[in-house]
This record gives sequence, C-alpha cells and structure tokens, in this order.
Amino acid sequence: MLTGRRILLGVSGGVAAFKVAYLARRLIERGAQVRAIMTSSAGEFLGAQTLAAITGTAPYEDFFGGESVSPHTELARWADLIVIAPATAATMARLANGLSDDLLSATVLAFTGPVVVAPAMHTEMWESPATQRNVSLLNADGVHLVGPESGPLAGGDEGPGRMSEPEPIVDRIEALLGGGSMAGTRVLVSAGGTREPIDPVRYLGNRSSGKMGTAVAVEAAARGAAVTLVTTADLPVSDSIDVVQVETADEMAEAVWKLAGGVDVAVLVAAVADFKPQDRADTTLRRASGPPDLKMVPTPDILAGVASQENPPFLVGFAAETGSVEQAAEKASSKGVDLLVANDVTLPDSGFGVDTNQVTIIRPNGASDGWPVMRKRQVAARLWDLIAEERAST
Ligand code: PMT
Repeated sequence: MLTGRRILLGVSGGVAAFKVAYLARRLIERGAQVRAIMTSSAGEFLGAQTLAAITGTAPYEDFFGGESVSPHTELARWADLIVIAPATAATMARLANGLSDDLLSATVLAFTGPVVVAPAMHTEMWESPATQRNVSLLNADGVHLVGPESGPLAGGDEGPGRMSEPEPIVDRIEALLGGGSMAGTRVLVSAGGTREPIDPVRYLGNRSSGKMGTAVAVEAAARGAAVTLVTTADLPVSDSIDVVQVETADEMAEAVWKLAGGVDVAVLVAAVADFKPQDRADTTLRRASGPPDLKMVPTPDILAGVASQENPPFLVGFAAETGSVEQAAEKASSKGVDLLVANDVTLPDSGFGVDTNQVTIIRPNGASDGWPVMRKRQVAARLWDLIAEERAST
C-alpha cells in the first residue's frame, strides 16, 4: 500500500500518455496522494482536465504564472517519489544530462528521493546509441527504469519501446517506498511447470504457465517483502525480486531446499513432475528406431523436503485437482503444510494458463473455505492477508 505517500507524476509527450490516467488512479487507489507535472507536449496526448479530475489538483505545466515563485523546489520537497510516465527520448536525454530547461527536468534535478522512469518510444529511438548512452547514465545515477516492453507501438509498428502497463510501475513504486505490510518478511515462492528431458530436444512437461506463482511473488514484493522466486517461467517481475531460473524437478528441489531455511514463508505453487525419465538420451531419438521404452523414476517431493527441515518456514502448498478439490484434504493433512490452496484445473477460469483462479483453502484439520473466481493477483493478495493472520495467531 502507498497510504499517505506523496507521488509526483511527470508526464511527457507520447501516445502512451493515455495510460497515465489509469496509472494515477491506481496510485490513488493504493492510498497515495498524487500531483502531476505535464511537459509542453504532454497536453497534445492527454487532457490536463483529465488528470485534474483524477488527482484532485490541476497539473503543473510551467514555471511561470502560478502562485509559487519556485514550483520546482516546492514540488521536489513535497514528493516522496517522482515517476515519469511516459518518458520520451527527449525527456530521458534531459534527465541524463542534468538539464533543467522545463519544470519537470528542473524538479527532478532538485529532488533527492527515488525517481522511476517508464520509457516509451519507437524501437529505433530506444535502440539508438544516444538513448542507450542516456539509459546507462540514468542507471548510474540510480534512476529506476521500468520497461520498456516489446509490443505494438504507435503507427502500427511493433517491437521494444512500448511503455510498461500501470501495474508493474505501481509495483516498483511500492517496492521502492518500502515500509509495506510485509517489510522485513523473507519469502520463497516456486512457480511454473518443471520440464523433464527425454533427449536434447524433447521433454515431459505440464501446462503451468507460472502466472499464479509469479502473482504470489509480485504481490509479496509489492508489500515490501524480500522475495526469492524459483521458477521455470520467464514472466516479467520487478527488479526487487531475486529470480532463480530452473528447469527440472531436481534443479527446483536443490534451489528450494537450499533457500527454505532462510525464509519466514514458503509458498510452493510450481507444478512439479512426480516422475521423470530415468535416462536422458545424449542425441535426439530417431523415429526410425521406433517408440522409446521410457522407464520412469520418481522425482523428489520438494514440499515434503521443506516440511521435514528443522525449523521449517510457514509452509503453503498448492494442489492441482481435476473434477473436485475434495481429494486435496488428504494432501493438506499428510504433506506437513500450514495451508493448502486447491484449485480445480478443469474449470475454464481456473488453473493452468488463465489469468483467473478459483481456489479453496484447506487447513491440515480438513476445514475448508472456497473463494470466488478472482484474478490471480487478487487471489495472491487475499492469500497474503490470510497468511499474515495465521502467522499472527500462532
Ligand atoms: O502456473 P499457472 O498456469 O498459473 O497455473 C497455476 C497452477 C494450476 C499450476 C497452480 O495453481 C497449482 O495448482 N499448483 C500446484 C500444482 C501441483 O503440482 O499440484 P500437486 O497436487 O501435484 O502438488 C501438490 C504440492 O506439492 C504443490 O505445492 C507442489 O509444488 C508440490 N510438489 C509436487 C510434486 C513434487 N515432486 N514436489 C512437490 O513439492
């Protein structure tokens, strides 16, 4: 949450300015006070009246003509954090070179707190040596860049240069301002589906996209936790999350078991293979040799391994069920977890790949509580609220 935090939103002139109204609203929903500065060209893309209506204060557009004799220093003293979205190539160049020829760049120059920059421009401009030089300078100055992403750009082009969506920008701001409800909590999350190699090109896998586990990790980081994410997926997360990339159940087990002793909470969301081929062929299997005779052997039970450690963390498992989540009750009592989150992966809006999930919380004593269909990020938020309550009551 950003309750009471004061955020100065700098808007420069790019088509992505249309996303800024939503960004301002998200910041206010998280409890922040928001004031805005618009550069002279920003008004071509976003109405000042729109930002005024959302933030409750008319955006600042110029040094002159307002009531303040020194708006840049006043705003710099007022803000806890400055976020510039979209940041055009010209604005980034101004910031990188310490120019102060407009209200936004002068305010940033007078500001001593964290600055978040969300670049937006065409691919050629983003990749140009001059912009990349400015990116290096901004990084060296400790400016926090979020994005850009790759995707559709103005004028029908496509490629790197698209401004990040408001959510990852808000996540970064929350992580930077810290002091969230989970500050000081160390968290380990596993995500994605493991891949068990058959030969150099084939593997046995499953349908997990990593979205649920990544949402759990991102929500914890947004609340100020120190998060390590052991994952097979490659989804965007804020830089504050330590990502350990793995592929197989063995690799995931090694990473999770090594890290679990040093955390307060472990949430194991990954869909881990229960069996793997005993042997992996060194060269690709040939069709002409006929169907392979795959001998399967069990993989390590990662969850059980964490539960049996000396002083295990507060442990949350997930259970993928098909048809009904009732069978998960047995896992909740036998696996040594504090909570089990069961989902029926055959429902259209639950489980693998989709952005929503319908989960049932099952306690080791068998008591269960079904939650409605929610976006995975909302499931993660409600789960962290529950974990906080449970930890506080033990
Ligand atoms: O990634 P998404 O596309 O967003 O999909 C999310 C999800 C459906 C994968 C997720 O919500 C989910 O259900 N994860 C658990 C999947 C699973 O492996 O369930 P399970 O019932 O087989 O395992 C139970 C628990 O044991 C899990 O916490 C699992 O991480 C763990 N396990 C399983 C096997 C194994 N060898 N070691 C383990 O630790």
